Amino acid sequence: MTLEEKIGQLSMAEGSGHGTTRGVQSAIRQGNLGSLFNVHGSGIVRELQRLAIEETRLAIPLLFGLDVLHGHRTIFPIPLAEAAAFDPTLWEATARAAAAEASRDGIMLTFAPMLDLARDPRWGRIAESPGEDPLVGSRFAAAKVRGFQGRSLSDPTSLAATAKHIGAYGAVTAGREYASSDLSERTLLELHLPAFKAAADAGVAAVMAAFTDIAGVPAHANVTLLREILRRAWGFDGVVISDYGAVAELVPRGVAADLAEAAALALTAGVDIDMMGNAYRRGLPGALARGLVGLEAVDAAVMRVLRLKERLGLFDEPYRGLSRDAPADDGPGRGLAREAARRSIVLLTNDGVLPLPRGLRRIAVVGPLAAAARPMLGPWAAIGDGTAATTIADGLRQALPDCVVDVSGGVSIAGSDTNGIADACRIAETADVVVLCLGEDETMSGEAGSRAHPELPGAQRTLAEVMLDLGKPVIALIASGRPLIVPWLVERASAVLATWFLGHEAGHAIADVLIGAANPSGRLPVSWPRDVGQIPIFYAERPTGRPEIAANRFTSKYLDMPATPQFPFGHGLSYCRFVLSGLRSTTTEIRRGQHLEIAVDVTNEGPVAGEETVLFFIHDPVASVARPLLELKDFAKIRLMPGERGTVTFNLTSEAFIFPGRSLAPVLEVGEIELFVGKSADRDSLLRTSIRVIVAQDRLAGQLVSARPDPV
Ligand code: BGC
Repeated sequence: MTLEEKIGQLSMAEGSGHGTTRGVQSAIRQGNLGSLFNVHGSGIVRELQRLAIEETRLAIPLLFGLDVLHGHRTIFPIPLAEAAAFDPTLWEATARAAAAEASRDGIMLTFAPMLDLARDPRWGRIAESPGEDPLVGSRFAAAKVRGFQGRSLSDPTSLAATAKHIGAYGAVTAGREYASSDLSERTLLELHLPAFKAAADAGVAAVMAAFTDIAGVPAHANVTLLREILRRAWGFDGVVISDYGAVAELVPRGVAADLAEAAALALTAGVDIDMMGNAYRRGLPGALARGLVGLEAVDAAVMRVLRLKERLGLFDEPYRGLSRDAPADDGPGRGLAREAARRSIVLLTNDGVLPLPRGLRRIAVVGPLAAAARPMLGPWAAIGDGTAATTIADGLRQALPDCVVDVSGGVSIAGSDTNGIADACRIAETADVVVLCLGEDETMSGEAGSRAHPELPGAQRTLAEVMLDLGKPVIALIASGRPLIVPWLVERASAVLATWFLGHEAGHAIADVLIGAANPSGRLPVSWPRDVGQIPIFYAERPTGRPEIAANRFTSKYLDMPATPQFPFGHGLSYCRFVLSGLRSTTTEIRRGQHLEIAVDVTNEGPVAGEETVLFFIHDPVASVARPLLELKDFAKIRLMPGERGTVTFNLTSEAFIFPGRSLAPVLEVGEIELFVGKSADRDSLLRTSIRVIVAQDRLAGQLVSARPDPV
């Protein structure tokens, strides 16, 4: 291969939607492009692939990528919503269905799953993430990789998955998009990297570097992160992809003087593919000539890209996926979308108004999201058709054919005009119940969707307060890509539900839950703040020397509000009453390598069948490094009929108690470990027992993230 052809394999360009420019076509013909993204559909993909196969000297097939985050044509709930299902089987199933649809459109590579741990709802990309917890993130990562990649990458219904964006993108300063992150190495290892390690262990084909830097070292130039940790310690042998133009951005980020330096830094760090291609195409020849990087680094990166193409079976079947002529709706599609959406809804409060009683005569569906279709899909909705989403009003109309469903927007999502509120009042006054559809639109979260005030935008609060003043039961639905701060609404509404962005079946799923055809089972994958001043907020806090005492000023608290979240991590109600009891452990002492079984009984004391999520946390009260007051170690779901009792069992080994010691090497320390089981991270509500770790070795090489990496 010529140097140009090699650099071509390392370059990815964007096609424009369904079409593509002449420039891209001639770059393909010249062998200057190895992959494309944002091009899909059998006609265009077949044509561009034909150029690569029939009109280039080496006939190397192109790789086609797309952001298939939560569905391709059929759109499932956004990742943050789906995380609320706490169900790896569901997470895998929706990824599998999305892969089957996308691959039929010629896509081979998805830039998903997004695995950035997010504890700051100001950051818009929290919508794409599995939330605040590293264990949930890790399970989510493994399930999504299994779902996208299937049994084998060469299966034409599989997509190569990309774990993105390594690392600590979610820790950007003040939640501001593309800003710096600065955090301890311990936090990086314990919180931000485990989901990526889980993806690597599950065999993820690709990893994408983050736009951001950690303490001044941009991810795209971070040798420790990409080479030492990702490749050497974790054994990842796939492809590292840059984020959009991020290699060239090493110049404005202040670590490279020109594109040659930027290209050399990124290639040396281990970035194989330059998304948008300009930095490698324009910078690498100069970098090689100046001796900033050697040809062997180029060759190694090219080999990794070619190996991915080979694993995808492209050398044998360059038109993979396209040859399947099954109809576009042969998959689980809308049925699975409805199921996923139902299970992602979190019932935050309920004074008994829900489920709606039979025999309702009139419902007023009010608010800017009442009849909204496209916003239901949320950000990153791939090629999902926004007009095909079921609106909340339509979902309710279909679910309640004998009830009059009146609809009025009242206000727009972000505007200040309140003239429509009178009409909303008119329909609300004659209704038995008001369903208030509030929230964000699909552009207010996701990439570049940071908001300093993650609250209801525009005049929605005015509308809501007028509705609440009517004295009718008000059920508030919050559509959003993040927890929204609405303490006044929580206080006054009869019920509040987090309905996130649920995808194409949003309206049906919401109606299912409101009428009780589905018993809500979603649980918060993030702590829900009361106020922006509490952010970042998360359950896994370290102990303070001065825990809050109301009467003592000199304790850890705010003078002007509670320090606790509005709703804790794991919170979510259902139409049943689940009671947990009889927490027990098979042993009171554990040695290194031994197993332990924790069991708890769960009784459904409610009138209907339902599903409970049981969370298992630990706390190490005395350790060489203070440990969080709660750390999630496992979770499980149990489905019970009314009056039924079942048992949930957690199996673990002593490894669950290993943590990075003072030197960051993994340690297992002797002493007591508190074990907690319950429904949320509200410590007061948890059942508690304890065990002792005995005769532990104090240092275990290579257990946590394999090895202690050098400082990042
Ligand atoms: C985002 C990535 C995405 C890429 C391609 C970037 O702006 O940060 O997450 O995969 O665009 O669309």
